[in-house]
Amino acid sequence: MDKRLQDLADRFSQIAHQYDDKHGSEQKTIYNACASLVVEHANPGPEDVVLDLGTGTGLIALALAGNAGHVVGRDISDGMIEQARSKAADRGIENVEFGFGQFRDPQYDGEVDIVVSNFALHHLPDEEKREAIEAIADLGPRRFVLGDAMFFGSPDPEEPLFGHGVDGATVGMLVDALTDGGFAVTALERVHDQVGVLVAERVGGD
Ligand SMILES: C[S@@+](CC[C@H](N)C(=O)[O-])C[C@H]1O[C@@H](n2cnc3c(N)ncnc32)[C@H](O)[C@@H]1O
Repeated sequence: MDKRLQDLADRFSQIAHQYDDKHGSEQKTIYNACASLVVEHANPGPEDVVLDLGTGTGLIALALAGNAGHVVGRDISDGMIEQARSKAADRGIENVEFGFGQFRDPQYDGEVDIVVSNFALHHLPDEEKREAIEAIADLGPRRFVLGDAMFFGSPDPEEPLFGHGVDGATVGMLVDALTDGGFAVTALERVHDQVGVLVAERVGGD
């Protein structure tokens, strides 16, 4: 892992034990709305393998485990992965596995039906977001659901929703990258001017 990513992973590991309680109220409402939409649009069936990239403490992965066949959560932060594993054990959820993996190399060799990612892709600069979307397309999922910081217009510099560390893309850039990756965007949910959920289906998929 390069130094930038290692530093980010270390920062998340340091706050992992309090991550689930850390959001301020406005951000929490937006985050919860976004997470619910990601879960709703992912909509896995009992045979589906779901890959959650930047899974963190497993919010989305654990929410999908009830309906999916198997869920794989990948993250760069050991501390976040540890929290996710401990939550799965506490809840007796057995069809999830959490481990190290990056957007560009998720370190999972099996078939993947649905890829999801919530509030994680914004850690990458735009060029790396494109590479990440290409890597996701190469996994061959029929659906990719992305919830994240994304700009529907020009963000007001006087009212930033997010602080340092959030490199939001425009919706247009993300739609272009998804289309270039062989997906058709079938839904776009606007949670806030700066947060949304994109649903992409593989063109020519089942
Ligand atoms: C803001 S948290 C979101 C976690 C979770 N998806 C959620 O909705 O609560 C972002 C997560 O992305 C992970 N992350 C950042 N860059 C990543 C990368 N390049 N590959 C995989 N995970 C990454 C971080 O370690 C962190 O756990």
